[in-house]
Amino acid sequence: MYSLIRKFLFSLDAEQAHEFSIKALKYLGYTPLSLGQINNPIEVMGLKFQNPIGLAAGADKNGEAIDGFAKLGFGFIEVGTVTPVAQDGNPRPRQFRILDAEGIINRNGFNNLGVDVLIENIKNSKYNGVLGINIGKNATTPIENSFDDYQICLRKVYQYASYVTVNISSPNTKNLRSLQYGEALDDLLSSLKAEQTQLSQKFGYYRPLVLKIAPDLNAEEIASVADSLIRHKIDGVIAGNTTLSRDTVTGLTHSEQQGGLSGKPLNQLSTSLIRQLSQELKEQIPIIGSGGIHSVASGQEKINAGASLLQVYSAMVYQGPKLIRDLVKQVKIL
Ligand SMILES: Cc1cc2nc3c(=O)[nH]c(=O)nc-3n(C[C@H](O)[C@H](O)[C@H](O)COP(=O)(O)O)c2cc1C
Repeated sequence: MYSLIRKFLFSLDAEQAHEFSIKALKYLGYTPLSLGQINNPIEVMGLKFQNPIGLAAGADKNGEAIDGFAKLGFGFIEVGTVTPVAQDGNPRPRQFRILDAEGIINRNGFNNLGVDVLIENIKNSKYNGVLGINIGKNATTPIENSFDDYQICLRKVYQYASYVTVNISSPNTKNLRSLQYGEALDDLLSSLKAEQTQLSQKFGYYRPLVLKIAPDLNAEEIASVADSLIRHKIDGVIAGNTTLSRDTVTGLTHSEQQGGLSGKPLNQLSTSLIRQLSQELKEQIPIIGSGGIHSVASGQEKINAGASLLQVYSAMVYQGPKLIRDLVKQVKIL
């Protein structure tokens, strides 16, 4: 069935196909149809997940199709990245399929309708499972003021999120990845942790903070990030985002496009990030594995490397929702 849908989707430009899929999933959300929920419950960060397979950020940036995605069988959904103010992102075309390798390169640049629209969409959804909200900074905000954007978003989304992801690893917002290092990271985490403490007192409930990092960090940088995460008592880490490396797609059509590479050609790099991070964190902070999961074996590898939960995006574009059901049924949590 999906091979037919895919034939149609792949006849469109990658972003047009995405927009069509969001509309279809939005519609699915309104209908009683469902591919069925599979129960494989797990508790991580104090949250109860129906199963450990989640939708990665970027697929539903504005939370327009949450109910539809839920019907594909995901155990949790992460919406965003959202910024304080709506922005267009980079000029199109900005998403490219690397067909031969089952990869995607995107340089979207946080195109989104702004945090307020996201919140309205969440309020209108019926979904009551675990919902992560991924926050970022506007392109026009100077990097030295980026903390303000994260604070604004955290305050606004706090009461609507099961957890909040701080995205400092998109390669498509200028200087964003500089926040992953040394003092800049320490300052950001300490300001967000203070805000989280205040918000948890104000609302009377605690919402975990998760940091999303890049797979392009070297061993020393991974150790340093892990040290910061532990010192600031951050609740979880997503490892990781898309890569700037082209080692696994050299010579293939579109591989020269600028942006972050995801999908199958990212798999090994991402697993190696999880493995190194896990050695540094020593089970003190849970890892959400993301990057190139395209089969039960590749998902299992990430769990074996130290991930507690998994997130998928690109392989769903290539394989359709059956992959999600296979992962939910067959990946064994350790
Ligand atoms: C088109 C596209 C847009 C993305 N947008 C975001 C985003 O807004 N925020 C984010 O944290 N990650 C974003 N990502 C990264 C994914 O969440 C995920 O971490 C990455 O693609 C690796 O997983 P995958 O190989 O299963 O796709 C995006 C990925 C793609 C392909």
